[in-house]
Amino acid sequence: MGKLRTLRDLDLRGRRVLLRVDFNVPMKEGVITDDARIRAALPTIQYLLEHEARIVICSHLGRPKGKVVAQLSMRPIADGLERLVGKPVGFVDQTVGSEATEAAQALGPGELLLLENTRFSPHETGNQADFARELAALGDVYVNDAFGTVHRAHASTVGVAHYLPSAAGMLIERELQFLEIALQDPARPFVAVLGGAKISDKIGVVGSLIERAEALLIGGGIANTFLAAQGHDMANSLVEPGSYEVALELIEKAKEKLHLPADAVAADAFSPEAATQVVEVGNVPSGWQVLDIGPQTLEAFTHAVGQAGTVFWNGPMGVFELAPFAAGTVGLAAAIAQSGALSIVGGGDSAAAVRQAGLANQFTHLSTGGGAALALLEGKPLPGLAVLQA
Ligand code: 3PG
Repeated sequence: MGKLRTLRDLDLRGRRVLLRVDFNVPMKEGVITDDARIRAALPTIQYLLEHEARIVICSHLGRPKGKVVAQLSMRPIADGLERLVGKPVGFVDQTVGSEATEAAQALGPGELLLLENTRFSPHETGNQADFARELAALGDVYVNDAFGTVHRAHASTVGVAHYLPSAAGMLIERELQFLEIALQDPARPFVAVLGGAKISDKIGVVGSLIERAEALLIGGGIANTFLAAQGHDMANSLVEPGSYEVALELIEKAKEKLHLPADAVAADAFSPEAATQVVEVGNVPSGWQVLDIGPQTLEAFTHAVGQAGTVFWNGPMGVFELAPFAAGTVGLAAAIAQSGALSIVGGGDSAAAVRQAGLANQFTHLSTGGGAALALLEGKPLPGLAVLQA
C-alpha cells in the first residue's frame, strides 16, 4: 500500500474541513444503543478543534437507498456527538444544497456542523461526480476517518477526494496499524475465529485466513453450513446450501487447521423462551435449530486461543442477543481476554459482545469496521484508502 496522507500533511488552521466519519451506529427508537463508532472519531475531531478548524461532518446511517427515511436521520446523532464532544454541534437536514452551504459558510473556527445522511441522496452510493463536487464545495480540505466504510467507493468516501486536498484521520491510522499486524507480522501461532450468520459474506476471508493462520476456528451460523456440507443433518438450522460446494473445498484446503463445533445448543424455536438442549452436531432433533456453540466446543476453542500469539476474531458464536444463546460468544470473549495474546476484534457484533461482557479494555484492538476489516484481511481493494495515498 502506498503511503497514506494523514492529518499532519494538511494545513488545517482556520480551514473548513469536510470530515467523513462512520456514524452508522445501532439505534433503537431514535436512541443510539452503542456509541463506540462516535467515540472512535473523537481523537480526530479533537485534533481538528485544537487546530481551530471549522468542521463539517458527514456520514451515512443504514441503507436508505437514496430516499429520505425519517428513522435514519442523523439528527439524534448530532445530539449524541454534542454530549461526547462537550460542544454545540449544529445540524442541517440537507447533505448538500443551499441550507447546507449557508450553515457551512457560517461556521467559525472550532465550530461543528453535522450534515444529513449522505445516503438520502441516490448519488452517494453511485459516486456521482456532481454530488461529490457539491459536497466537496462545503470544505477547503477533506479528511476521511470513516474506517468502517473504506471498502465502499461512494461520493463521500472517494468522489470528494478528487476535488480537495485530502488525508486520513487518526481512527483510520490506528485501525490500519493493528489490522496490518494481523496481516503482515502476527505473533505466532496466529489463531483466527470466525462466526456470524452468513457464510456467503465470508468465503473470501476464510480462504485468506486459511493461508495466514495456524488455526481457524469456526462457529455461529457459518459453522452450520460447513457441518451440513459434511453431511450432518442440521434440522431447522440456518444453512446456505448454495455454499456447500465451496465449504467442502475450504475444508479440503484447510485440512487440520480448520476447527468446527463438535456440539451445539439447539432450540425448538428462535426465541428466548424456547426449549433448549446441548446436542452433538450430528444429533440436532428434527424441527430444532442450532443457536450457539456447545460447552465442549467452547472448551476446545478456549484451549486453541490460549495457545495463540495473535487472535483475530470476527462474528459471534451464536445468537448472543438472546440470553440462552450467549454463552458461546461471551465465553469466547473471556477466553481471548485471558489468553494474553494480541487480540483484534473485527466487526460490529463481536465488538458489541465484547463491550457488553465488560471486557473491552482487555482486548488489544476492537475494530470499528466489520466489512472493511474483512476486506482488508482478504486483500481486497479499499477504494476509500486508495484515494488518500500519496
Ligand atoms: C458498516 O456498518 O459496516 C459500515 O458502516 C458500512 O455500511 P454498509 O455495509 O451499509 O456499506
